[in-house]
Amino acid sequence: MVSYKELGLVNSREIFKKAIEGGYAIPAFNFNNMEQLQAIISACVETKSPVILQVSSGARKYANQTLLRYMAQGAVEYAKELGYEIPIVLHLDHGDSFELCKSCIEYGFSSVMIDGSHLPYEENIALTKQVVEYAHQHDVTVEGELGVLAGIEDDVQAEHHTYTEPDEVVDFVTRTGVDSLAISIGTSHGAFKFTPEQCTRNENGVLVPPPLRFDILKEIEKRIPGFPIVLHGSSSVPQQYVKTINQYGGKLNDSIGIPEEQLREAAKSAVCKINIDSDGRLAMTAAIREVFATKPAEFDPRKYLGPARDELKKLYMHKTESVLGSAGKA
Ligand code: G3H
Ligand code: 13P
Ligand code: ZN
Repeated sequence: MVSYKELGLVNSREIFKKAIEGGYAIPAFNFNNMEQLQAIISACVETKSPVILQVSSGARKYANQTLLRYMAQGAVEYAKELGYEIPIVLHLDHGDSFELCKSCIEYGFSSVMIDGSHLPYEENIALTKQVVEYAHQHDVTVEGELGVLAGIEDDVQAEHHTYTEPDEVVDFVTRTGVDSLAISIGTSHGAFKFTPEQCTRNENGVLVPPPLRFDILKEIEKRIPGFPIVLHGSSSVPQQYVKTINQYGGKLNDSIGIPEEQLREAAKSAVCKINIDSDGRLAMTAAIREVFATKPAEFDPRKYLGPARDELKKLYMHKTESVLGSAGKA
């Protein structure tokens, strides 16, 4: 057992409190490899933003759990070396069992999500409560989820949204003791959030998806004032990356995300954690495809992973400065 405190990590309690009071959201960026981690840390140090490093169970399988833990520990030291200490949370994304959450806590995670959103309500409560009881003994914070997002959540796949029911939130948070609540108000996982048929065209011919259900968010905030809310599935799917990917041999049709203005608006409310993974995948893929297509003789991985890392850093800086408002808050 290693405590996250020994690794220089923090749980999410304090940073969420400040984010709600300050009207901004903390970025939760997923990572699976060194270049992603370097980009996240250097972007957040440079913009002085707190950050949540997110590890999915898929990432754990891909990169090896022990290695990931040492990488997060290394990230704390890397941030110091870059010259500015920022709060860093190591968070399990979409934990699906008590055993997985427990194992992550024992490996030094400072925060875990137990995602029982696909379970019947009472089973979701029972599982979430079990995780909270263990996590709180180690001062680890827990995120629960109510409502189902469309798209793919690791092994769980849903065709349609089930929006969070505001009447359930008081009962859920009091009976489970969770520290934050992920809700479903129209975001979804992946790069294909909306079909063109679901969108309308604005005056510039750009496809605009239906707005998030801010009415449901307001109802939830009324029921649990000041309680930390989390938005999953919040990639905006920058069209310049989709264009570059398709220009250099990719095939991403109809990739439409959540408009940044809507995330800006959400960040001003009790939404204090915004999850972004797909945008990073797109940024990396666009940069790598461009190198492969324009410099076909290149075969040193540093020559394509380096530009991918630079593009990722630019993307993450943009998120903290111009979308979430977390820049300057560390
Ligand atoms: O919500 C899921 C995250 O984007 C993680 O994706 O399970 O493919 O690592 P993954
Ligand atoms: P995106 O697929 O929209 O980036 O969402 C990521 C996420 O919610 C991770 O939990
Ligand atoms: Zn998610």
